[in-house]
This record gives sequence, structure tokens and C-alpha cells, in this order.
Amino acid sequence: MSTVDATLDELLEYVVTDFSNEQQLMEDSGYPDFPAHLKLHEEFSTTVAAFLSASDSWDDDRIQELRRFLNKWLIGHIMTHDLRFGN
Ligand SMILES: [Fe+2]
Repeated sequence: MSTVDATLDELLEYVVTDFSNEQQLMEDSGYPDFPAHLKLHEEFSTTVAAFLSASDSWDDDRIQELRRFLNKWLIGHIMTHDLRFGN
């Protein structure tokens, strides 16, 4: 397993745990935007899965593309959607 794959694995483990905890909290508290928020989490997971299955090799372009996606998505999501819930 390459360093990128290993790092990505760790990151995804963290994200999946965070998603699950947050989804549970939202569901328990009857958060009205829960369905929309769940959809965002699913879209993120689908995009990452597509990245992982697209190719076995990580060239610089692909790493940059992944980095841009993760930066934009994680920061954008946490700073807007998660904070809206007060998480
Ligand atoms: Fe979230």
C-alpha cells in the first residue's frame, strides 16, 4: 500500500466515524436539515470511492486533484453545514 493510500485510509476512517456520530446526533435531536446533510455525506463518500477505484497509481496530478477536493470539501462542509448544526 502506498503512503497516499495509507494516509487516505486513516483519513477516511476518521471521516466515517465523524459522519456516523454526527448523523446519530442529528437524527436523535430531530434536526430538520438531517436528510439534506446525510446526502452531502453520501456524496462525499461516493466521490472518494470513485477516486480510489479510478486507478492504482498516484501521480502528482491525481494527488493534487484529491488534495484540492478534500481541502475544499472538508473545510467547506465543516465551516458551513456542520457549524449550522452547532457541532
Ligand atoms: Fe457533516
